[in-house]
Amino acid sequence: MNWPARSVSRAKPFVFVLGLMPLARWFWLGYHDALTANPAEFLSRSSGTWTLVCLLVTLSITPVRQLLGQPALVRLRRMCGLFTFFYATLHALAWAWWDRGFEPTGMVADVLKRPFITVGMAAFILLLLLALTSTQGSIRRLGKRWQTLHRAVYFIGILAILHYFWHKAGKNDFSTVIIYGAVLAALLGWRVQRWLRSARPAAVVAARGQASKAHARSGG
Ligand code: HEM
Repeated sequence: MNWPARSVSRAKPFVFVLGLMPLARWFWLGYHDALTANPAEFLSRSSGTWTLVCLLVTLSITPVRQLLGQPALVRLRRMCGLFTFFYATLHALAWAWWDRGFEPTGMVADVLKRPFITVGMAAFILLLLLALTSTQGSIRRLGKRWQTLHRAVYFIGILAILHYFWHKAGKNDFSTVIIYGAVLAALLGWRVQRWLRSARPAAVVAARGQASKAHARSGG
């Protein structure tokens, strides 16, 4: 049985509160003076991790909705996407403030000089574009182009893993990168196999059409 759209919409406040949990945790730790010996580094890393988690949750909504046969779950996707953007903004602000002291020339130089920052910034700019065009008005205005633009989320996923990989390369520790990378590969792989399965019958129909036309032309 399909879940009614209204019941899924009723789950939105719950998802909203859940999405604010990492932020609440940082305030809690800050209030109890427990943000580790280096709070700036802790918050910078934690916000990066939560950006990645929110991104993977957003990307998992379509496969979960298809597996469970519950199309109404799509109603939660926009909120998850906006939480990804929210944590990415905090993460970028942490870098701008603690790493670069909000100094524009230093920030531009860092983006140009360090490939892992370049890749992170590219992912952030794409996320900003998707957040700005996530409204009903944009969906109406952009029509078919909206879907094409929002496919950029797959590319953001790849950039995010590359950013994480590069960050960890300096420490020679890839254990968590492999886990997040495998989850992303599974989520993208699911889409590729669905696309291949839907493309195959269309190709078979087209080939059959060609064959019967050729047959008719030859008078057979
Ligand atoms: C979609 C966008 C992004 C994602 C998913 C992301 C994710 C991450 C992750 C998972 C980490 C490693 C956390 C850890 O070590 O546990 C990280 C580290 C870092 N990211 Fe990003 N990031 C993004 C964008 C950016 C942007 C725009 C910047 C700045 C321009 C940035 C700057 C950094 C820095 C400086 C670190 C190292 C933090 C430290 O070691 O103290 N990231 N990021």
